[in-house]
Amino acid sequence: MERELSLEFVRVTEAAAIAAGRWMGRGEKEAADGAATDAMRTVFDSVHIDGQVVIGEGEKDEAPMLYIGEKLGTGQHPKVDIAVDPLEGTNLVARGLPGALAVVAVAEKGCLLHAPDMYMEKIAVGPQAAGCIDIDAPVYENLSRIAKAQGDRIRDLTVVLLDRPRHQGMIDEVRKAGAMIKLISDGDVAAAIATAVEGTGVDMLLGIGGAPEGVLAAAALRCLGGEIQGRLAPNSDEQVQRIQKMGLQDVYKVLKMPDMVRGDDVIYAATGITDGDWLKGVRYSGSGCRTYSVVMRAKTGTVRFIEAVHQLNKKPFMKEFKEKWDMDQR
Ligand code: FBP
Repeated sequence: MERELSLEFVRVTEAAAIAAGRWMGRGEKEAADGAATDAMRTVFDSVHIDGQVVIGEGEKDEAPMLYIGEKLGTGQHPKVDIAVDPLEGTNLVARGLPGALAVVAVAEKGCLLHAPDMYMEKIAVGPQAAGCIDIDAPVYENLSRIAKAQGDRIRDLTVVLLDRPRHQGMIDEVRKAGAMIKLISDGDVAAAIATAVEGTGVDMLLGIGGAPEGVLAAAALRCLGGEIQGRLAPNSDEQVQRIQKMGLQDVYKVLKMPDMVRGDDVIYAATGITDGDWLKGVRYSGSGCRTYSVVMRAKTGTVRFIEAVHQLNKKPFMKEFKEKWDMDQR
């Protein structure tokens, strides 16, 4: 993929964030998700790629847009796999909580795991601790290895987990080991990435979250030099069959970085919707707004933070979005 595409993918996540951010705190997560999906879909069609969604809003019969298998882009070279989450953290936007993102990962065709929509056990760390973790090792063992790799003590480390009853055992183990804990209500993609972003104070993500989100995090960590390991966690025979149908005979195989994201022709872009640990959310004012995005390329390891000022009246798509929003508010 040409490096120029990076900016195109930022335009895609910016559009989704601008559309979704207006719904902050309104308690309507479906409306926010719909707005983000609509906006992302529209902008994708102007990008010169021959893309196919491998991780999206659902199967064709359950998602009108950005469904798995949907073709995106103008159809010109290059052929790429696309993973999208127009609104990662629907509840966060609905409740006005921090950490919601619009996210896209794009890789050479055949290089992203087509993760089914089910749970995945995950452990993720930043670059210093990459290569040290083992999803099958006890929590204490992983914390010791991370502390050693980072030159810290366990009590200096912070572990992020989704605040769910299913994580109580892990929470107890982290506490027993002596590390600090940050519980989040949603949004484990941002939390996994935070392990690899300096200054966030997050050292490890642990726990069970969405499998598609696991692959999105893997794409970002591939660019940042971090590591995630995962294991699909099917909860029905039907889910087991879905995994086998996608070619994974060992349903409970530990999925390492190369299983989730192959090669280094990977671009990851995200725009903040609500304020987070490493990206601010959208700021609206008058007929414009300001967005905060990151775009990364695995090939070069370049990470760009982009602050953009948008005049919604001057861009055809955004003008349409603004008019639609203004109408809805009458
Ligand atoms: P949505 O944006 O689809 O609501 O997902 C938010 C999220 O918190 C993910 O970040 C996480 O992987 C997953 O939901 C966890 O699922 P659950 O809420 O079922 O525990």
